[in-house]
Amino acid sequence: MTDTRIRVAVVGVGGWGPVHARAFSNRSDAELCAVVDCDPGTADARGREFRVPCYLDIDEMLRTERPDLVSLAVTNTRQVEPTLALIRAGVPLLVEKPLAFALADADMLLAEAAERRLFFAINFNYRYARPVRLAYEAIQQGRIGEPIFAAWRFEGSKSPTDHPHANLIETQCHGFDMLEHCCGPIESLMAEMTDVTQGGFTTLVVSLKFASGAVGCIIGSYDSSYEYANTQVLEVNGTTGRVIVEDTVRRFTFQEKGSEMRQVWETGYFNDSDRTIRKLIDVHLDELLAAFRAGREPPVHARAGRRALALAEAAIASCRTGRRVLVDRADGPIMPVGLQGRPPSHGTIVEARL
Ligand SMILES: NC(=O)c1ccc[n+]([C@@H]2O[C@H](COP(=O)([O-])OP(=O)(O)OC[C@H]3O[C@@H](n4cnc5c(N)ncnc54)[C@H](O)[C@@H]3O)[C@@H](O)[C@H]2O)c1
Repeated sequence: MTDTRIRVAVVGVGGWGPVHARAFSNRSDAELCAVVDCDPGTADARGREFRVPCYLDIDEMLRTERPDLVSLAVTNTRQVEPTLALIRAGVPLLVEKPLAFALADADMLLAEAAERRLFFAINFNYRYARPVRLAYEAIQQGRIGEPIFAAWRFEGSKSPTDHPHANLIETQCHGFDMLEHCCGPIESLMAEMTDVTQGGFTTLVVSLKFASGAVGCIIGSYDSSYEYANTQVLEVNGTTGRVIVEDTVRRFTFQEKGSEMRQVWETGYFNDSDRTIRKLIDVHLDELLAAFRAGREPPVHARAGRRALALAEAAIASCRTGRRVLVDRADGPIMPVGLQGRPPSHGTIVEARL
């Protein structure tokens, strides 16, 4: 019998890549065929762990293994180069967020992939958390009426990423993505950021206006702690009710306006798969591999990564200029209000304090 499983290689198997490798190797419709890491010790250890060949070089892996799909979880500030190489080799891709740290890089990757009509997905895995899916459904079904405000808070501790806007770009990309997923396009924003702990702009607040007329906010921090309860919360509050998602996977709450009764979802005793952030990719892969097999676009196209980055760059421009920034829904130019005609500049820490 012919093996119809999709052959997948995972590139970058340091901290998060093994989450990809485990997810692919546990599936009956896919086969983890190889792992790649530029660090020899890491490549070797993960090859042994998942019982697959390991490589230090992407080209050599492609020549030998001929995977149907490659999943990328390399150090995020180094993602552009291997992504571009894989796109140019014509390989269908799932990449980790953030797509890039500069809009020009994101545009270049998307253009190169579009030229080749390539399957190009991004792992905005939070969309697949059970509480988030329940919140999304409740909003779609009109259970909260018309959304009036949405609040996203995600706080934790320092990341090793050496970039002044690491928190905004690598972590709050989930917030931008989640808020637009639930409430539709953002049309303008204003931001304040602090570098008081001197490791870049580690804490920030962004006020948002949605095209629907609703307003919202993002509070993001690397100066807090992942050990705090409710370190990540999403609330969407509408004309007839509200939904709350706590710690992404921990709890969903729906409450009708004026009622003292709440409907709450939490994982049952044996429901380990809905309890962990590390298994969200499994639910994403159910949709992603079905789309790949059917020749459809991925359920979360890499364009979503470009969009989150465009919103992050708008927040940087707002903080730098002290002005509200209009965001083109079609991801066109971003321009602080009153500065139309001047190109946006995404300056250094010092410039951003102007
Ligand atoms: N979606 C999520 O919930 C989530 C959570 C955590 C991390 N991430 C993302 O996963 C990615 C990996 O994060 P991490 O914490 O594991 O990073 P990491 O730096 O700890 O590990 C990355 C690995 O990639 C390897 N690497 C770097 N460049 C490479 C290249 N060109 N070719 C082959 N290997 C290369 C490194 O040697 C390292 O072993 C990042 O994009 C991060 O933003 C996503």
